[in-house]
Amino acid sequence: MSKAPPKMNDAVDLLDADHIAVKKLFTQFKKLSETEAPAAERKALADRICKELTVHADIEEQIFYPAAREAIGDDALLNEAEVEHASAKDLIAQISGMEADEELFDAKVIVLGEYIDHHVEEEREEMFTKARKSDMDLKGMVADLKTLKEELLANDGVSA
Ligand SMILES: [Fe+2]
Ligand SMILES: [Fe+2]
Repeated sequence: MSKAPPKMNDAVDLLDADHIAVKKLFTQFKKLSETEAPAAERKALADRICKELTVHADIEEQIFYPAAREAIGDDALLNEAEVEHASAKDLIAQISGMEADEELFDAKVIVLGEYIDHHVEEEREEMFTKARKSDMDLKGMVADLKTLKEELLANDGVSA
């Protein structure tokens, strides 16, 4: 616990803090899978991953992406990100509907993690870089992102 908490100066910091948090959960899941941890434990962690990812995707889709689409002027980049979210949500729905002792459960969670790694890399290297160079109000967006995130988490992460 020696690391300083991540800075939350702007929307990019906030979103990337989510990325870092969920990456840790995926690493934990991989360990559970490798050690053949009990199904209940794997299911609980997978459910948490699914919920956090769904909320993260929803705050991006409802607040960050529309603003980025307007400010960055790169529709292809935003379209690809949205397609990636839709694919991730498909996989999340499959995982949420499964029991952890079913075949392919662990594989689906691990593949979701790899898929999210790829998506996050594109956000960091392209979308976030472009957002910071644009006139997006990244600081002004923090409060809205936080509020929606809390609302969705309180709602059990189910998107409207
Ligand atoms: Fe995203
Ligand atoms: Fe993201």
